[in-house]
Amino acid sequence: MCGITGYIGGEAALPILLSSLKKLEYRGYDSAGVALLDGGDILVRKTKGRISVLEEKLASEEKTEAKTEAETEAKTEAETGGKNVFGANAGIGHTRWATHGEPSDVNSHPHTDEADSIAVVHNGIIENYLVLRDWLYERGVSFRSETDTEVIAHLVTYYYQNEPEVNPGTGLGTRNILGAVRRTLSRLQGSYALAIIAAGYRDRIIVARKDSPLIIGLGRGENLVASDIPAILSRTREVLFMEDGELAVLYRDRVDLFNEQGNSVTRPPTHIDWTEEAAEKGGYAHFMLKEIHDQPKALQDTLRPRLRRSGDKPVDIDFDEINFDPRWAKRDRVVIIACGTAWHAAMVGKYAFEELARIGVEADIASEFRYRNPLLAPGDLVIVISQSGETADTLAAMRLAKKNGCHVLALTNVVGSTLSREADTVLYTWAGPEIAVASTKAFTTQLMCLYLLALKLGRIRGCLDEGNFRRCLAALEQIPGQCAELLAKQDVIQRFASRQFNKTKVFFMGRQYDYAVSLENALKLKEISYTHSEAFAAGELKHGPIALVDKTTLVVAAATRVSLFDKVVSNIREVSSRGASTLVITWEGESAFTKTADEVFFIPAPLWEDDKTEAAGQNRFRECFSPILSAVPAQLFAYYCSIQRGNDPDKPRNLAKSVTVE
Ligand code: AGP
Repeated sequence: MCGITGYIGGEAALPILLSSLKKLEYRGYDSAGVALLDGGDILVRKTKGRISVLEEKLASEEKTEAKTEAETEAKTEAETGGKNVFGANAGIGHTRWATHGEPSDVNSHPHTDEADSIAVVHNGIIENYLVLRDWLYERGVSFRSETDTEVIAHLVTYYYQNEPEVNPGTGLGTRNILGAVRRTLSRLQGSYALAIIAAGYRDRIIVARKDSPLIIGLGRGENLVASDIPAILSRTREVLFMEDGELAVLYRDRVDLFNEQGNSVTRPPTHIDWTEEAAEKGGYAHFMLKEIHDQPKALQDTLRPRLRRSGDKPVDIDFDEINFDPRWAKRDRVVIIACGTAWHAAMVGKYAFEELARIGVEADIASEFRYRNPLLAPGDLVIVISQSGETADTLAAMRLAKKNGCHVLALTNVVGSTLSREADTVLYTWAGPEIAVASTKAFTTQLMCLYLLALKLGRIRGCLDEGNFRRCLAALEQIPGQCAELLAKQDVIQRFASRQFNKTKVFFMGRQYDYAVSLENALKLKEISYTHSEAFAAGELKHGPIALVDKTTLVVAAATRVSLFDKVVSNIREVSSRGASTLVITWEGESAFTKTADEVFFIPAPLWEDDKTEAAGQNRFRECFSPILSAVPAQLFAYYCSIQRGNDPDKPRNLAKSVTVE
């Protein structure tokens, strides 16, 4: 997730771009950059680090420029080069959340072609960029960065120079920048929001969107483009929301909008009356709620580039990015290390690896692992999970594993983090920046990656036949959409929270995967609502926890193992008869709990193609992805309890987003 912006009008573009970028900084802050159209030139300024670093560099450039101007007062603009980022009236800007290529000056956007005649800013992922890179190499193009975006600038130039549009009447070819952009877009697979400027075309900015947000702000004598509304609110409140497949050309005094077929489109703008602060959170009251709602997209971004397809069906998992070593499949044991929410993901991973790949997993808390004398052998596969990639205990545990000769596979959300730099190989969760202290989308995308690893290993080890492997991939592919369905029903949870928020004890229970996800569900509630909440394996109820159950207790049971439903029904009866209120999270269409629980929240069940194996018990595979979905109602419940209690869910007391000290 990155932020892009653009301005064309009568004022100096640079301060407008910088102010817009600051409003988008929540989308990423690994690097920042701008490209300005001055005369016939494109002037690029970019740097690793936050927008403030770019501002400092520009400020010192401005000082030097003022001095030079004074010294060369007599010279004409032509003599001094006339290149001025400060006076240009059109430009584009970017704030980066690194995905392809570490945060660095050279990987920062905007990216340009070899002659700096095209500049591009991009939010999204070009999934086929390696193929396009090779194609361009063969045509003599050389690259500066490691990013997926750079191919776009080179492709536009390639098509502009080599494939002029032919006028059917005269038979003559004319170079056409819009045509070149269209040809480029037709080659891209993946997601993009793009803003492009071209040196010979100082009067326009070309923008396009597919699966990444982009809006156009319509001003008076000026037009703007941005990833999100807050970036344009100080200039205009009239907004065109671009649809997928649309392309637009922004001029100072008009905007030409085209649909995917290239036909001109008109529609009235939407008037926005949000405050600037509300707009920064996408209109949500808090970052946490926004991030809960980001999950369908985050899951999609994490999954889709890794699925290899035949026709429209996923048939394999592509792990070229981590140099997936088939020898890992020969090991019967994997160690997964993490803290907090990431450790809960490891616990779900334990069940998934065992079930799908028949590999034993030790899911270890990093702060415990680092001070033990763990049994490790050279070549062991150690998976280290951390959203931030900076958690002190997790880093120490990783270093211990490396010292013992293990192969460390990092699972992290932050490109360029210490974990990503020190691990042997890195698998990224492409969740975009997580700002709220309580982790939500990082957790569900960590699960997505762990399932992919387990499935890949399971297939190689022969634990999954081709049919079940493909069914599992198809089930995973449904999850982003199912997550969106769940979120559309958030008012059910909101109402439940408004009745239950003042319970003094909340227990989360479940069996197997449902136990693992209960650990996370309990943590969410305690972190932001400050309610005493604990999780336990449902089978443990009578071994202790039931002593605490009374009228002030809420028990939340996750129940997605159909074969164990009877046991959960008994557990619910046991706590209800002692006065507890109960909520069950289970599959859509299941009626097992409707008579026993006070409330049932349903999660969508996967459509399981060609399922003739149910009797043989193979439908167990179909249940194993449930934690990604059953975490979502618990996140919402925690959020709404926190609100009801008057807390700030984004900044819970005593907690920090990243625990970088012991
Ligand atoms: C999650 O809601 C917490 N804020 C916390 O447990 C967190 O998951 C933990 O500190 C680990 O952080 P990391 O993933 O950045 O390493």
